[in-house]
Amino acid sequence: MPKEKPELSDAMRKKMSGKITEKNPIKGTKFTIAISSAKGGVGKSTFATNLALALKVIGCKVGLLDADIYGPSIPKMFNINEKPKSDGQKLEPITKYEIQCMSIGFLADQQTPMIWRGPMVTSAIKTFTQKVDWKNLDFIIVDMPPGTGDTQLTFSQDIKMDGAIIVSTPQEVALLDVKRGIKMFDKLGVKILGLVDNMSFFKGDDGKKYKIFGEGGVKKTADEFQKEFLGEIPINPEVGKCGDEGKPIVEANPDHEISKIYLNFANKIKSTYL
Ligand SMILES: Nc1ncnc2c1ncn2[C@@H]1O[C@H](COP(=O)(O)OP(=O)(O)OP(=O)(O)O)[C@@H](O)[C@H]1O
Ligand SMILES: [Mg+2]
Repeated sequence: MPKEKPELSDAMRKKMSGKITEKNPIKGTKFTIAISSAKGGVGKSTFATNLALALKVIGCKVGLLDADIYGPSIPKMFNINEKPKSDGQKLEPITKYEIQCMSIGFLADQQTPMIWRGPMVTSAIKTFTQKVDWKNLDFIIVDMPPGTGDTQLTFSQDIKMDGAIIVSTPQEVALLDVKRGIKMFDKLGVKILGLVDNMSFFKGDDGKKYKIFGEGGVKKTADEFQKEFLGEIPINPEVGKCGDEGKPIVEANPDHEISKIYLNFANKIKSTYL
């Protein structure tokens, strides 16, 4: 019998039982929103990059913080190869497609594995949230790593987070992890804005919808936890191709039917906060 995974690690439980410390807002932004899912590979980074660009299209000033210290994606998805400037005190974000970006991948060789202990991850997150000269932003979109570990804990406990969006694919195995992620944010007092069903179906040339990974699971999970179901994004090879080429679909083709879905999400976020 496979061993059931604990909902939260012992270290996290211990930390969570401690005193709740004052939460620091990220300076230079009005709102900070995390894109999360305890499951890996469900499309968090793809969603984060395209949502950031869609918010820009509708007139918001946006930053993108790659919180995935072990496996940063923003340098590749935005095709950024330069290093950020620093005056010794503050790091300058790198602006691409009018989005202010920061990632550990700008500072280290992309093929070098990050062999870091937990406290080093926490200190990298603190640098990115307190020592980056984010300028005059409406939103910082945080691309979270998979899991319910140190990064999620640092953001939820130490940093003022205005909301989290949970991305999932419809398979049961993904939803199991997602449920753990929902419980974590609930326990840590971070507002969950809602759940997104990514890669929910594939539309064939015959116009039919093929539900490759199952049907309705994300909506059902949202209902079960009394969270909003924000909508679905189909599988579309163009989405992956654009991400791989360093120009996400919303930037490459804002009129694409998938880009319009991201614009809908962006409008929802904008009207919730601004
Ligand atoms: N709607 C979609 N249609 C087609 N491909 C997609 C879609 N969403 C994401 N992908 C592809 O799925 C793969 C995984 O996406 P992504 O890297 O965004 O996931 P992730 O959740 O951030 O992964 P990790 O947990 O490793 O950070 C990528 O190749 C991406 O291009
Ligand atoms: Mg990612």
